[in-house]
Amino acid sequence: MSAPCTIATAPYDDQKPGTSGLRKRVTRFQEPNYLENFVQSVFDCLEGYAGATLVVGGDGRFHNDIAIQTILKMAAANGFGRVLVGEGGLLSTPAVSHLIRKNEAFGGIILSASHNPGGPDGDFGIKYNGANGGPAPESVTDAVYARSRIINAYKIVDTDDVDLSGLGKTKIGNMVVEIVDSVADYAQLMTQLFDFEAISALFKGGFGFRFDAMHAVTGPYAKEIFVRQLGAPARSVINGEPSPTFGGGHPDPNLVHAKLIYDEAMMPDGPHLCAASDGDGDRNLIIGRQCFVTPSDSLAVIAANAHLAPGYADGLAGVARSMPTSGAVDQVAHAEGMPMFETPTGWKFFGNLLDSGDITICGEESAGTGSSHVREKDGLWAVLMWLNILAVRKQSVAEIMDSHWAKYGRNYYARHDFEEVDAKGAGDLMNSLEAQLPKLSGHETPAGTIQSADMFAYYDQFDGSVTEGQGIRLLFANGSRIVYRLSGTGTVGATLRVYIERYEAKDGALDLKTEEALAPLIVLSRELAGIDRFTGRSAPDVIT
Ligand code: G1P
Ligand code: ZN
Repeated sequence: MSAPCTIATAPYDDQKPGTSGLRKRVTRFQEPNYLENFVQSVFDCLEGYAGATLVVGGDGRFHNDIAIQTILKMAAANGFGRVLVGEGGLLSTPAVSHLIRKNEAFGGIILSASHNPGGPDGDFGIKYNGANGGPAPESVTDAVYARSRIINAYKIVDTDDVDLSGLGKTKIGNMVVEIVDSVADYAQLMTQLFDFEAISALFKGGFGFRFDAMHAVTGPYAKEIFVRQLGAPARSVINGEPSPTFGGGHPDPNLVHAKLIYDEAMMPDGPHLCAASDGDGDRNLIIGRQCFVTPSDSLAVIAANAHLAPGYADGLAGVARSMPTSGAVDQVAHAEGMPMFETPTGWKFFGNLLDSGDITICGEESAGTGSSHVREKDGLWAVLMWLNILAVRKQSVAEIMDSHWAKYGRNYYARHDFEEVDAKGAGDLMNSLEAQLPKLSGHETPAGTIQSADMFAYYDQFDGSVTEGQGIRLLFANGSRIVYRLSGTGTVGATLRVYIERYEAKDGALDLKTEEALAPLIVLSRELAGIDRFTGRSAPDVIT
């Protein structure tokens, strides 16, 4: 007999969601009531969900199974009518977004710490998405945080765990738990957007393709879509079995953790396209044969070529990028006469622009690209978009990049991360830089004159919200740019991100090595901010 009960609890003061939800060590989430407090705080801040549908799923990381059972029991006790949960508790982040939209659900809960390591000593995370399928806006996450600091009880049904290992329906109290195929609906959506025939023909013609699922959530999606539906050889998908520890790896599709496919792609006879996605399937890595594509460039190429895919044949309403993302897509928007919007870091800021129809495609420098088909970035979508473009243009990735730069100019770009630095030192660095802003604009440097220097703030024209303190921008008269901001997703200390960019017009120097092109700006970025002095670090931990 399952009975709802109310359990007394004490509030936590460390449940402030960052750029993409609440992210902490697994061990923190294992503490009694930690997850429960957050979930109840979310439910307490929502209205009108009695009898409604909630979508729940995660990337399969350690603690996913346990957290899902708790959430199901709490959703039942709080009065939801139905929960759609992915088989085995697995759903990629874009798949959750799609299921919410397709089923007109009230919202969804995603369990993931994205590209952070998993396992008992790794990270866990939770995020609430609203009825549009996108991450809750800041007004909601702020309210949830405020609630989590005063909450004194949560509701849960005292019952056995639900077996999530097969499709079908069961009940907790009055609430229906429907276990759905994790892949089917998402795969169906992809067939509506992309030219599956052209991509199948590409594979039939011997196109070399490798996708690294990193033992994370995208394995089953990749096998179904690339191998079963599009006919790529089975060996195209590697690390395709999801695992709670990500096979002991780190599901961050960058050049360090996806080195295997990077090395393969750099061989003269390597695959024509190598790609990877992260823990929860929303990020993408794109590498052509001997041609790495930066996420900022990938966004620009997609914006310029999306019309080659059936779902985008009518062209794009507009595009958007997060502030630190390079201006490559701005060049496309400008040349093609499309509106371009600049938003703060984090996917949630694209939501209103997608909902209003002002933009069709958007992206971030951190390997996130997506479109109006869902309200999350979407790793497999980006890979399919590239396959579609390659299938139609019948050129190599390198040829596409060269012709892109020759048409729109090139934005050399790199991000330097100083990880796990002392939080106070990092805060002091940002404050000191902010205090210098007035005298930095007009300042002449060996890398050019700084034309303007400011702290980025965003006014959302749709909900009237203003988001401040989103990073310091130094814009140079020659089109170069240096941006500084602190990460909102780290779990230990602070992470300082420095984004460095140089623009060369289409008749400029288009064939430089990135390090070479950016060298003077890199030196300057360290000096201006006193990175060494404030953080004790003379070099970044990761360069992407
Ligand atoms: C990072 C990325 C950002 C992305 C977020 C969630 O956030 O920089 O673009 O939206 O992860 O995937 P950050 O750690 O920089 O706050
Ligand atoms: Zn992710």
